[in-house]
Amino acid sequence: MTGMGGEIAIEALTENQAREELARLAGLLKDANDAYHREDAPQISDGEYDALKARNLAIEARFPHLKRADSPSERIGAAPAEGFGKVNHAVRMLSLANAFDEEDITEFDSRIRRYLGLNPEAALSYTSEPKIDGLSLTLRYERGMLVQAATRGDGAVGENVTVNARTIEDIPERLTGAPETLEVRGEVYMSHADFEALNARQAAQGGKTFANPRNAAAGSLRQLDASITAARPLRFFAYAWGELSAPLADTQMDAIIRLASLGFTTNPLTTLCDGPEALLAQYGRIEQARAALGYDIDGVVCKVNDLALQARLGFRSTTPRWAIAYKFPAELAWTRLERIEIQVGRTGALSPVARLTPVTVGGVVVSNATLHNEDYIAGRDSKGGEIRGGKDIREGDWVQVYRAGDVIPKIANVDLAKRPEDAVPYAFPEFCPECGSAAIREAGDAVRRCTGGLICPAQAVEKLKHFVSRAAFDIEGLGSKQVEQFYRDGWIREPADIFTLQERYGSGVQQLKNREGWGEKSAGNLFQAIEKKKAIPFARMLFSLGIRHVGEQASNLIARSYGSWAALIHAMDAASAMEGPEWEGLLAIDGVGEVMACSLVTAFAQKQERASIDRLAAHLEIEDAPRPTTESPVAGKTVVFTGTLEKMTRAEAKARAEALGAKVSGSVSAKTDLLVAGPGAGSKAKKAADLGIETLDEEGWLNLIGAS
Ligand code: IVH
Repeated sequence: MTGMGGEIAIEALTENQAREELARLAGLLKDANDAYHREDAPQISDGEYDALKARNLAIEARFPHLKRADSPSERIGAAPAEGFGKVNHAVRMLSLANAFDEEDITEFDSRIRRYLGLNPEAALSYTSEPKIDGLSLTLRYERGMLVQAATRGDGAVGENVTVNARTIEDIPERLTGAPETLEVRGEVYMSHADFEALNARQAAQGGKTFANPRNAAAGSLRQLDASITAARPLRFFAYAWGELSAPLADTQMDAIIRLASLGFTTNPLTTLCDGPEALLAQYGRIEQARAALGYDIDGVVCKVNDLALQARLGFRSTTPRWAIAYKFPAELAWTRLERIEIQVGRTGALSPVARLTPVTVGGVVVSNATLHNEDYIAGRDSKGGEIRGGKDIREGDWVQVYRAGDVIPKIANVDLAKRPEDAVPYAFPEFCPECGSAAIREAGDAVRRCTGGLICPAQAVEKLKHFVSRAAFDIEGLGSKQVEQFYRDGWIREPADIFTLQERYGSGVQQLKNREGWGEKSAGNLFQAIEKKKAIPFARMLFSLGIRHVGEQASNLIARSYGSWAALIHAMDAASAMEGPEWEGLLAIDGVGEVMACSLVTAFAQKQERASIDRLAAHLEIEDAPRPTTESPVAGKTVVFTGTLEKMTRAEAKARAEALGAKVSGSVSAKTDLLVAGPGAGSKAKKAADLGIETLDEEGWLNLIGAS
């Protein structure tokens, strides 16, 4: 801490010295506040902090006219921080697959048995527990001390809410007898009673009220000023874990019991069930209990009890195979459809949206619902079959809306008896409502699209929003709202403009800081954040362009296959000149089909779009993509399994091989690199031998992948 010693006595300060000293103290106190509240890493002791504050007050008392507009003595509580720090989750925070009826649960059980190779009679138990309707939180304990709390975020990166979490009573600060590293996961929620009381208090003070307990819990946890969180009655149920230095137990149930014995609150309705029938019975009991619980739940979570089996079952891309959320039926409500509006998306898709007379559905006020596309409005599915018994949807109709989870509300039904006499079938626009270009529906496509390309302002803005989104350039301080503002004012029309913003607005900070919503600090931060993203990984660059059909995963595959941006450009140019081999190269990438290939080549061949991409690339340093991982001995190899596997089922063997970067094929050909043959292998083994393909038994395979 600098500047603590050698200070001039207050009585001896000249006016100029006092002015400078107040500025210095304001800066020091602000930094200290930020470090404490935002980074959760106090840089000075409480005593030093108090001494600085006292000195500031004393100088202000002597020179009242020098008191600054941003005087630290006027500040109560936390620093007005710009956002939370980010936390990389050591173990990803996943979501759950859903079940909606009894059959989904029996199918869940059969799927697991098939995967593990268990016969229908073999014992297989599950836990069942309420699905709490709150927001998930992960708590990291090191040597028994709470060191970090983070929200789920996108599953890989969440927000650091440590200071806030410490204010929640159910969250212990210190544990005894816990593994050295322990990440406890669970749900933050608010009880009905606390929610009602909070809303009443907020209303009395003219503050913001919340639509439901979930929103109230989220709004309260994600407060930059932790003293607000402290004043809100949040609760926490522990139900899972992340990184661990030692296992908690052998079963899910015992792990929950262990968490409870460490001092966490676990849900009392957690029970052990010996199969799908027992799960269904317990679902019924929890549904019965729901109304009297005093907090919101939206289903029942079923998990395989044996943790060794959980480990074998593993994960799909975002959900575990060993758990499922059996959701309660969605709530329904009738309301009037006032108008149908058309929104134009990034790829020009015209999406119809129903504007509704606001209605409460499951505790949330709903005023919009998706109408999908023109067939859906007309009462037809994509194959021309009837939906809703063929009833179309018209402006003025009474419609039944429902919400399922966090998704956009949908329309379940139309009441023809209440249809106004003058209601007419909805005529879907054939021209883009934003730019007037023709809106065309290609054969086989359910969606009508604006053909305006970059001249369509809606497409341009949506493309920009995509460009700055989290999985794309992810520029801090430049989100959808800011992009819209910059586009409206003509400051940013295409991605390349982002990187010339500072240059074009000369003393950029000067101009930007005078705009609404921007101050000197945020403007400076924005330019810094933009600068930081000038070096960008190839895959992100490609995904950011928002080319139709080219999503995040495809961008990764394509980037890895071409290695460098220059190689991609070369291939695109060759492909659009119809040079056969380049098309084949693109199509040979596993996961790239004709539709995607065509969309990609067209985007790079289209003159205006290509010019815009080139202008962007000129500002960037596009980093080469990592070549396929060589850590795994089977990465990039094509493997065929045949015969009986004894240690695992085919499905499990396939999933493991794929997780290691191998491609699993069903038949032996010249492209096969490796055959894994168990007892009873027949023609495939013979063919592999004829082709001289390496063949291993199951043991050899397990040795190769280091799993024996
Ligand atoms: S287990 C790897 N158990 O539901 C699986 N999740 O839809 C970890 N949730 O993100 C989740 N109650 O926020 C689990 N008893 C419970 C839950 C629960 C609520 C939430 C959780 C998760 C979401 C998935």
